[in-house]
Amino acid sequence: MTEHHFSTEQVICPQCGSQRWRKLTSQWLCKNGHVIPTSAGLPDFSAGGTLAAQDRKLRDRLYNGLLGRYYGFMMPLLSMPARPILQSLSQWAVFFITWIVLFDLLWGMTVAFSGGHTVIGCLLLALLLASGAVLYRHSYLFWLLLVAIPVKLILLLRPYKPAETFPDVHRRWVNALKDAGCEQVLDVSTGTCNSLLRHGWTSLGAQLHGVDLSTTMLLQGADNAAAAGVPIQLYVADAQAMPFPDACMDLVLNYGALNGYQDQARALAEMARVLKPGGVLVCLDEQLYDRAGKLEKLYFEKVLASHDTIMRFPREAVPVVLDLVELHQIYQFYYLAIFRKA
Ligand SMILES: C[S@@+](CC[C@H](N)C(=O)[O-])C[C@H]1O[C@@H](n2cnc3c(N)ncnc32)[C@H](O)[C@@H]1O
Repeated sequence: MTEHHFSTEQVICPQCGSQRWRKLTSQWLCKNGHVIPTSAGLPDFSAGGTLAAQDRKLRDRLYNGLLGRYYGFMMPLLSMPARPILQSLSQWAVFFITWIVLFDLLWGMTVAFSGGHTVIGCLLLALLLASGAVLYRHSYLFWLLLVAIPVKLILLLRPYKPAETFPDVHRRWVNALKDAGCEQVLDVSTGTCNSLLRHGWTSLGAQLHGVDLSTTMLLQGADNAAAAGVPIQLYVADAQAMPFPDACMDLVLNYGALNGYQDQARALAEMARVLKPGGVLVCLDEQLYDRAGKLEKLYFEKVLASHDTIMRFPREAVPVVLDLVELHQIYQFYYLAIFRKA
């Protein structure tokens, strides 16, 4: 095998640390012959059975499942009470149609049985039970059906205004990093690349890298980035054991994932490890605002944060090498934390 068969990547071989790879369809081979399997064409650094139970469950049940397959619709659906109505019209339409269908099934079944149409009644009962099974399996949908309207009304009546808005915080940091120079950006748990593409980071002109555990999510991410004309290197990898050398990134992003990992301390230490000294880490995830009432709390715990191992900013998990420079309660249900590596 001659040297020109190998491409130089940022990622390192977990076994020997080599950064020289020969890319084959079904696997990547490092210079020393260690094999990394590919999953749907993406190198899979998560293989090897070391994945923690919570992370495996999240990947298999949620992000490789219903939520992940229809992420572009499902995520706005779950957060629709907190989003502007005009931005989630189709989600509200599906919500009301679901209620109408469930009500019609129940009403139709009652009429059928009381009119002696047993076969039709049994059919409608079977459909109701099947709907119940889906809602039982995806209990966040059941709770959303129950609380979406009252929570929306509460949020409309008592709007929340953070000291600085989400777009303003992003604008300020994108500009600061443009001035400072930013060449390597890693989006940890990039999923569909939704947040990476939306918040201005691509204007830095940096080389972009993304890791995620779910191939279902990453394949959508590859499509979304290609549609936006944004080149990015994507890898299947665990946020808590990433295949990057120390101190190679200027900026690390982590949107909507930190609270769901099994081990926040390990994930933050890993993100700190790959950051260059002076590099910036941005984390966003679920946290309930102080003014929340009982219904908002119920919606938060049963719908938005139902998959989390911790439902607030994990302050105690931050390694000493990371200085917390800003912590915002950016929306009613989300914090935004910005760190700089010492
Ligand atoms: C709510 S999604 C957020 C996706 C994206 N950052 C965004 O803002 O749209 C959470 C993502 O975290 C990923 N994830 C969960 N546990 C992970 C782990 N241990 N390592 C890497 N990614 C993980 C999931 O596969 C999923 O794509």
